[in-house]
Amino acid sequence: MSGAASPIRSTDPVRNMIVAIDGPAGAGKSTLARHLARHFGLLNLESGAMYRAFALKALRAAIPFDDSRALEALTAETAIRLEPGEEENCVLLDGEDVTGFLRNPSVTDAASRVSVYPAVRAWMVGLQQKLGAEGGIVMEGRDIGTVVFPHAPVKIFLDAAPEVRGQRRFEQLGQSGHAHTVQPAEIVRDLRARDERDRNRADSPLRPAPDAVLLDSTGMTLEEAVRAAIAIVTARLTPSPPPDTSPGRVKAPPRPV
Ligand code: DC
Repeated sequence: MSGAASPIRSTDPVRNMIVAIDGPAGAGKSTLARHLARHFGLLNLESGAMYRAFALKALRAAIPFDDSRALEALTAETAIRLEPGEEENCVLLDGEDVTGFLRNPSVTDAASRVSVYPAVRAWMVGLQQKLGAEGGIVMEGRDIGTVVFPHAPVKIFLDAAPEVRGQRRFEQLGQSGHAHTVQPAEIVRDLRARDERDRNRADSPLRPAPDAVLLDSTGMTLEEAVRAAIAIVTARLTPSPPPDTSPGRVKAPPRPV
């Protein structure tokens, strides 16, 4: 994203809010984030695309993924920008539009490997915090609610069964022209391996923030998941009425919704 002021920035608290969406690969975060951003008039920022862009640079430079020092040094000479687009962000790596390369399976694997290093994460978190400093964003990833924006007023942890996530990733790859390069079973296997790394890395492992709302989309259609997420955001934005402390009033039991 460029530093230029966005037309959607305003003094409206809804428009200045931060919605953090975290969850494992293939849970549907990108799609959900895109719909929420459209619905509430926010910018949609995909933090995974930034890790992917950095991974692409490391691949091009032939830096081994276990060389943490070289990867750290690479961060100092890397510029990543997100330009919000209609469907997805346009990702600029050192000024080059690399969006079309980022869903390549080798980049997907590399992103999961380079993102375990604290120095890479610290650099990336700084970039992401700068992007979202003014609010008015939906940002999705693995550590948005726990590390990048721990004070975000709305946090959703989106999950789904691994098989369902594998199928979704397969369809996503089909749309980006990479489906022929992998089999569904292979995708589920890779997904589990990435989950394992994302959930068990020492720095900022994937886990729900204590105040995140858990949304399991396993048995949901896209429309249902989007509706549920809109309801979560709306509920978090609606201030609850002050408790009625007038004497003699009996508190009504909660009504089913
Ligand atoms: O969301 P994604 O599949 O595009 O992310 C690619 C990789 O980047 C993922 O395997 C882990 C890493 N990532 C991360 O560590 N933290 C984030 N906030 C986003 C992504």
